[in-house]
Amino acid sequence: MKKSLIAGNWKMYKTPGESVDFLKKLAMETVKYNDREVLVCPPFTSLYPAAEILKDAPVSLGAQNVHTEKEGAFTGEISPAMLRDSGVEYVICGHSERRNIFGENDSTVNGKVRISSEYGMSPILCVGEKIEERKAGKTFDVIRSQVENGLSGYDRPDMLVVAYEPVWAIGTGLTATPEQAQEVHLFIRQMLSNLYGRELSMAVRILYGGSVKPENVNSLMRQDDIDGALVGGASLKLDSFMGIVNYS
Ligand code: 13P
Repeated sequence: MKKSLIAGNWKMYKTPGESVDFLKKLAMETVKYNDREVLVCPPFTSLYPAAEILKDAPVSLGAQNVHTEKEGAFTGEISPAMLRDSGVEYVICGHSERRNIFGENDSTVNGKVRISSEYGMSPILCVGEKIEERKAGKTFDVIRSQVENGLSGYDRPDMLVVAYEPVWAIGTGLTATPEQAQEVHLFIRQMLSNLYGRELSMAVRILYGGSVKPENVNSLMRQDDIDGALVGGASLKLDSFMGIVNYS
């Protein structure tokens, strides 16, 4: 059975010291689940100490970004080998904050997806429409182009995770309804099926992100094509994150 994936994206929160404190508590609270995987994505500076704490815990470790090149004169960037050697198993690629604040385009995101897999890490390809695109009836066009371009030439669906995060739902307290999310997730599943065949597409986990909370996680997780959650704000506190991890 495919395990669901409950992932915390910490964004630019928590120092290494704060991360260590949090993860020690999380490691004690998290039991080994048969049906779900728990993932945390701390800032770069916390990854190495985080891996040490999580090495015997049933919690996976992810990074929030990676550079598209193996190495080079790229001041301030982080290479895939640096992440892998720090114990990273997943990489968030093309988060809407990277796209909209730091100007990442589909071609950069595609490079990040590809290089993550080359280095043995699962890419989490993030896609999602802005409010004006939704209002203009362009949601599916936006998702189609982000998925198609983000996965151009990509041949490791077995490693892939996709996250649907409508930009208007991120950090706003506005969540997509379970039906709105399911509709887009099904659309992504069909695209994956066209690209990789039905069987492989069914194995890809498609996460929903955008104001996920303990109060709304159950109804989202009951949808056929929602295989997990990518959680921002509510992943920063142990109570709320565990409330989501323990969805029913
Ligand atoms: P919030 O859960 O804070 O809305 O953030 C979602 C997100 O961007 C996760 O990557």
